[in-house]
Amino acid sequence: MRSFLLATIMGFMFSCTPAQTDENSDKSNVDELIRQMTLEEKVHMLHGKGKFTSAGVERLGVPDLKSADGPLGVREEIQNDSWAPAGWNNDFATFFPAGGGLSSTWNLDLVRRYSVAMGEEARAREKDVLLAPAVNLIRSPLGGRNFEYFTEDPFLNKKLVVPFVQGLQANDVASCVKHYAINNQETLRGTIDVQADERTIREMYLPVFEAAVKEGNAYSVMSAYNRFRGAYLSENDYMLNTILRDEWGFKGFVMSDWGAVHSTKESALYGLDIEMGTEIDNYDDWFFSKALIAAVQNGEVPESVIDDKVRNILYVMEEIHAIGSAPRAKGALNTPDHLQVAYEVASESVVLLKNANNALPLKSSGIKSIAVIGDNAKRKHANQGFGAGVKTKTEVTPYDALVSSYPDIKINYAQGYKEQYLKNDLNRSWGLPVDYEANEQLVAEAVAAAQASDVAIVFAGSNRLVETEAEDRKGLRLPFGQEALIKAVKAANPNTIVVIIAGSPHDLSEIDATVDGLVWSWFNGSRAGDAIVDVLFGEVNPSGKLPVTFPKRLEDSPAHATNSFPGGPDVVTYDEGILIGYRWFDTHDVEPFYPFGYGLSYTSFEYSDLKTDKSSYAPDEIIKVSLKVKNTGAVDGKETIQLYTSKPESAIQRAARELKGFGKIALKAGEEKVVSIEIPVRELAFYDVKAKDWSVEPGSYYVASGASSRDLRGTMSFSVE
Ligand code: BGC
Repeated sequence: MRSFLLATIMGFMFSCTPAQTDENSDKSNVDELIRQMTLEEKVHMLHGKGKFTSAGVERLGVPDLKSADGPLGVREEIQNDSWAPAGWNNDFATFFPAGGGLSSTWNLDLVRRYSVAMGEEARAREKDVLLAPAVNLIRSPLGGRNFEYFTEDPFLNKKLVVPFVQGLQANDVASCVKHYAINNQETLRGTIDVQADERTIREMYLPVFEAAVKEGNAYSVMSAYNRFRGAYLSENDYMLNTILRDEWGFKGFVMSDWGAVHSTKESALYGLDIEMGTEIDNYDDWFFSKALIAAVQNGEVPESVIDDKVRNILYVMEEIHAIGSAPRAKGALNTPDHLQVAYEVASESVVLLKNANNALPLKSSGIKSIAVIGDNAKRKHANQGFGAGVKTKTEVTPYDALVSSYPDIKINYAQGYKEQYLKNDLNRSWGLPVDYEANEQLVAEAVAAAQASDVAIVFAGSNRLVETEAEDRKGLRLPFGQEALIKAVKAANPNTIVVIIAGSPHDLSEIDATVDGLVWSWFNGSRAGDAIVDVLFGEVNPSGKLPVTFPKRLEDSPAHATNSFPGGPDVVTYDEGILIGYRWFDTHDVEPFYPFGYGLSYTSFEYSDLKTDKSSYAPDEIIKVSLKVKNTGAVDGKETIQLYTSKPESAIQRAARELKGFGKIALKAGEEKVVSIEIPVRELAFYDVKAKDWSVEPGSYYVASGASSRDLRGTMSFSVE
């Protein structure tokens, strides 16, 4: 009924102009709407009028703008003025695998299907904006929000963001790409001033946002909490006006992170459009409410600036069909298809870290009993911690999946470890210092279960109280004494497999040295348990590859080697510059524990015949790289082929190698395929700070094909004129 009324009003409003869809007529409709608005009405549109709503102008048929948190799925409804759940019974949603899981698939078609499904859910919940994806680069293995983010690599990051944004927006919902920008830690996130040089931000931190805007056509961007070069990101002229609008041509709106606004005049002039999330529930007291009206009236902020902001919002509303007469996508919630997508992403994201003596896959026929050990065997990850989760009807745990898929196998469950935190004087439940002591009683029960079973599987790792928004982890070690547990279980049963469920690198050295079979899974959505169990039993051949380097020691990873994480109290300086992630390890010849791009399979792949289509290229050409890949094992599988380029004898600092292309293929046992991957020469450009532009250095280059950043299978040289 509501949408019928709205369509009628809108039809009437625009009836003086014939129904047209060309840009000029839309623009004049928007300008006409703005002309009819009072200053108060316009300013109302520029700040929250509830936790996740900003106002429309009812008398002109402009509806409120309703947002919901992602990126794990559409967050449950909360009360308008508080974070307490609204208590609805129709706000269940699919829990989609978190960022780390999505990126480790390296499968762009799956990314698109995932975000189309998420967009359908957002529309079915009548949202206009989904606060997703979260794409900040993973700078430290300790980052509290790493689990939400994709990767340490800017190329993989930008390739993932484009289908994500396009898929989400295909259903008339705006993506709000967050958190713009250079927001790479939780410690002091509300005040810290990030200092990073121009080349570093252009080559590392900004490409994902640039691709989201220019290729993905993202309709909105969320300004981050922190400061960059002195100015808060919600009032950062350089980031918001110069780069985002002027250079990239961004047409949508900038929405602040929740409570990330610190000024009226500066935020208004330097590029913020909508203020969200202050804790003051008197919505007139926000920087972008009464104070903004006053700033216009006293001449500090021209009214045309207000008009521009409203125009940005109305532009998006038109694009997502929140205004205008075109029909709007209705979406769908909790469908079997969505659960299927969540399953496929989860199953392609699982990373096989170690498989000595063919410990995996398990052969169900020979197994009568399994000791299922570990808190993570039964723990759900859709919610908990600080920050957004999903209220879901379906979350299949590994335990659930084992019981339902293998009813004939006897399951001996033991919790093995439990979450224990050191003294909590902070009056909160998340991000607390963890206790590393094993619980002797639980270990003894686990040992007994392992002794009584054919196989033991320990589901270990972290959880969403340990890895959480608003707090970085304090160290790489696994919490709650899990190493001691795993050693004891392995001593009790040599057939012990370990599954780590977590979102960030941990120190797995003792566990890797203890067991033959080691598998990594993520906070992996509604069907996480089905996916991991299918990998363990070989129904799915694992094909996930790590989107992040696992260091041997924390001090090996770049932000820690340079002693520049988390910085503070006021400033953090990104001393590692462009050498983030594997770039640092490879350039400084530091051995990682598990390299970027690493992941095993139940089969093996042979790479041969690496070729480039020419030996020399002009800067505007495309390098067509091809190679043969053969599945040399006995089972079908999928492989992600990675292309890394390097430039010997460069006039500028360069990383030893950089990812510049990848492709994922499926190969039947014994099958061979030719894989072609294109690298536009402009991908080789560096940001020339003096010229303020990208520049491709002429001379010779190498391209290497890799099964990981440390497993290079072939190298070719070529030159750029
Ligand atoms: C987070 C955002 C989130 C917002 C609304 C903030 O604390 O940084 O990612 O979208 O809250 O929940």
